[in-house]
Amino acid sequence: MDSIVVTGGTPLKGQIAIAGAKNAALTLMPATLLSEEPLTLTNAPRLSDIATMTALLQSLGVEVTSMQDGKVQVLSSHAMTSTTADYEIVRKMRASNLVLGPLLARHHQAVVSLPGGCAIGARPMDIHVTALEAMGAEIELKDGYLHATAKGGLKGAKVPLRFASVGATENVLMAATLAKGTTVIENAAREPEIVDLAHCLRRMGAQIEGEGTSTITIQGVDRLGAATHPVVTDRIELGTYMLAPVFAGGEVECLGGRLDLVGSFVEKLDAAGVDVTETAGGLKVKRRSERAKAVDVTTEVFPGFPTDLQAQMMAMLCTADGTSVLEEKIFENRFMHAPELIRMGADIEVQGGVATVTGVKRLKGAPVMATDLRASVSLILAGLAAEGETTVSRIYHLDRGYEHIEEKLSAVGAKIERVSS
Ligand code: EPZ
Repeated sequence: MDSIVVTGGTPLKGQIAIAGAKNAALTLMPATLLSEEPLTLTNAPRLSDIATMTALLQSLGVEVTSMQDGKVQVLSSHAMTSTTADYEIVRKMRASNLVLGPLLARHHQAVVSLPGGCAIGARPMDIHVTALEAMGAEIELKDGYLHATAKGGLKGAKVPLRFASVGATENVLMAATLAKGTTVIENAAREPEIVDLAHCLRRMGAQIEGEGTSTITIQGVDRLGAATHPVVTDRIELGTYMLAPVFAGGEVECLGGRLDLVGSFVEKLDAAGVDVTETAGGLKVKRRSERAKAVDVTTEVFPGFPTDLQAQMMAMLCTADGTSVLEEKIFENRFMHAPELIRMGADIEVQGGVATVTGVKRLKGAPVMATDLRASVSLILAGLAAEGETTVSRIYHLDRGYEHIEEKLSAVGAKIERVSS
């Protein structure tokens, strides 16, 4: 298994190009199931999660053609062969459950394995099921699979979500485009990836209003057509690389970065003593002084502080001046990076969903282990600031969400390399 070795202490300088969003691509790709016409996605990220989604869609009979080294994906579901999403694939990636809504909408049936839990939490699908049942689907859980049918197709309905679930909003939004009548999603998730999906569906001929707000209204249509859509910039990769110069010192420009994607995150950076400047190409980031300041962070649904940047922020606060309190309100077990950071000399106390971080002068390099995607990148970032060498193992977690991280960081001066063992 590969590891990544980081040697800390070198200030960073230069530009990092931010890729298309993993969490947008993972809902845009299944949208191809809604039409027999081709869907072309540009600015697609090159990640193992995209390869997993490709394999899942191909197992259903979807044709997927990658071009320009994976940056362009052409998908076509004119020759479907199956409506069953197999456990072997779904267990590897929860986002596989995003085929449920589109399959039900166009094929009136779907058999989708429950994803099972993952490192950060149980991650049930009750909100997805309740919402689709409100639209006339009959869904039964058998042998770990959701068996869903919609005789005569889905019907438009009022769909209140008990929690603004990103995936449930995406499944319902896609399903509603072909339902008979009007669907109103209440308490919808407002993440930029939802807005991006709505823009793509509208290009395909869907009638949607209100994306980005808590109420989305969809007027069902008989069919959707071909479209070409650019995947929105990845706000989590953006936030991750914006933090790199805060750890290591220096200044980095994140090309493609947009303030509207990281509003609440930038507010916290400002409070921590970090300058973020808009440039013609993106966002330039620089620490105001030798040490960042402690800040409190609570993760919320968008536009609040993103849970997917919590681990990276915690790692940065390990060497900030003062004590920070981080509250994780989205997932029940998303502090697994804490014990690894403690191995590097961090002072962190975890009580349930609250972590208290007391800043130390400097972390020390150590062998550490990645446990989930965002935890693994927080350890790489910590290594940029630590004294000596940090070896991060199990980096297959990392490759799910960050394309060529060692190349992007080396290009701005970091001492980082991937070693095969
Ligand atoms: C999406 O996951 C993202 N993944 C996650 O990013 C992200 O952390 C999450 O949204 C929150 O922003 C993709 O977009 C592929 P949710 P999703 O449904 O849709 C509970 C990353 O690192 N819940 O908003 O699964 C759930 O257990 C990944 O890129 C239910 O209880 O998130 C969780 O506690 C990690 N029942 C909370 O809601 C349901 O039916 C948020 O889940 C659905 C969700």
